[in-house]
Amino acid sequence: MVSFELTPEQQLLQETARRFAQNEMAPVAQQYDERGEFALKVYQKAFATGLLNDIIPEKYGGAGLTTFESTLIAEELASGCAGMTTTTLGNGLATIPLLIAGTEQQRERFLTLLTSKLTFASFDLTEPGAGSDAASMSTTATRKGNGYVLQGEKSFITNGGVASFHVVFATLDKSKRSKGVTAFIVPSDTPGLIPGKDESKMGHRASNTTSVRYENVEIPASLRLGEEGQGFKLAMQTLDRARSSVAAIGVGVARAALHHSAQYALERTTFGQPIAQHQGIQFMIAQMARDVEAARLLTWHAAWMVDQGMNASKESACAKLFATDTAMRAATDAVQIFGGNGYMREYPVEKLMRDAKLLQIYEGTNQIQHIVIARHVLDAAT
Ligand code: CAA
Repeated sequence: MVSFELTPEQQLLQETARRFAQNEMAPVAQQYDERGEFALKVYQKAFATGLLNDIIPEKYGGAGLTTFESTLIAEELASGCAGMTTTTLGNGLATIPLLIAGTEQQRERFLTLLTSKLTFASFDLTEPGAGSDAASMSTTATRKGNGYVLQGEKSFITNGGVASFHVVFATLDKSKRSKGVTAFIVPSDTPGLIPGKDESKMGHRASNTTSVRYENVEIPASLRLGEEGQGFKLAMQTLDRARSSVAAIGVGVARAALHHSAQYALERTTFGQPIAQHQGIQFMIAQMARDVEAARLLTWHAAWMVDQGMNASKESACAKLFATDTAMRAATDAVQIFGGNGYMREYPVEKLMRDAKLLQIYEGTNQIQHIVIARHVLDAAT
């Protein structure tokens, strides 16, 4: 039987995240955004409240939540600030490969590091010349003695400059494309690992994004994550599991756009009545509400499938695609409803529009999500 009723524990979790977003994130979101400052104080409070590293099993000190429960948190936090939620997403992206392919020793060392004190981690896949076409990466891993030497450059890495460790993907043989890719865990104090400057971004400005250079970085074989040549699949499996969280951020941003739009439409008067009385405004608000509901259902379904151990590649791509497009549409319409005020920094909706844009780009552009979905549909039809 399908049930959409949350358990009392899940309701409490949702309520805790909602209160945190309203009380600790939303009031300072604009300041951090303006300054482009990493919101360390907020992350400290989120860590103390137990809202970080939620999917890490209890045996490593985490909350042991399901992917579904994690999306409940992500939606609430994103309604307060999408950029701050991206920082938590970065930790999740580094956690998932360890949960899928980590040895007990690796999990014990790195997952416990994330839960014992406020610690950040990153997922180093993208390169200046290899974004959507991840298998064409140029960062190399060369066997040396009982270990490897990494050489190359990664770009647009969330938490790149603040991470205590990086999950990095490198190729042992570029001619093999995806089959050459291998994953490694690299502690950030390893000589030769050099983060670039914090990028100045359009949105998500409370998060840290840098390039990461690997200059003859030597690591022991014990830090290889999974088998040689299995790194690409590991990256794809990780993204399949993480994309419902991006979708949840999209739902949170769209919900915030809807909330601000409804409030403003009731307050703002034109032609002798609140603009909420005009059908043009009502239609935009109704469409936002419709899409928020639909996006949430896709998100919950994809996350639920992950929790059942099912292949959720297509469903995660559908959720990510629809929810982040919804966020962009809702934020753009919110700016329209606010009119000239919507374009001004002192009102909250222009930030939503800037933040929504990145959701359509990171963790696989929405064009890549179309490709993933189409491949699944066409494979099933042949
Ligand atoms: N699960 C398991 N295995 C998978 C898989 C999946 N979801 N998808 C592909 N594979 C396997 C395939 O089965 C194939 O294996 P075999 O060779 O054994 O058959 C192998 O991987 C290669 O697959 P493809 O031939 O499909 O690979 P491709 O080169 O055509 O690329 C792609 C596929 C889906 C376009 C992939 O390149 C892709 O997802 N690109 C987008 C990358 C991305 O999302 N980047 C985001 C970076 S993270 C980020 O943004 C984080 C942040 O900071 C917030």
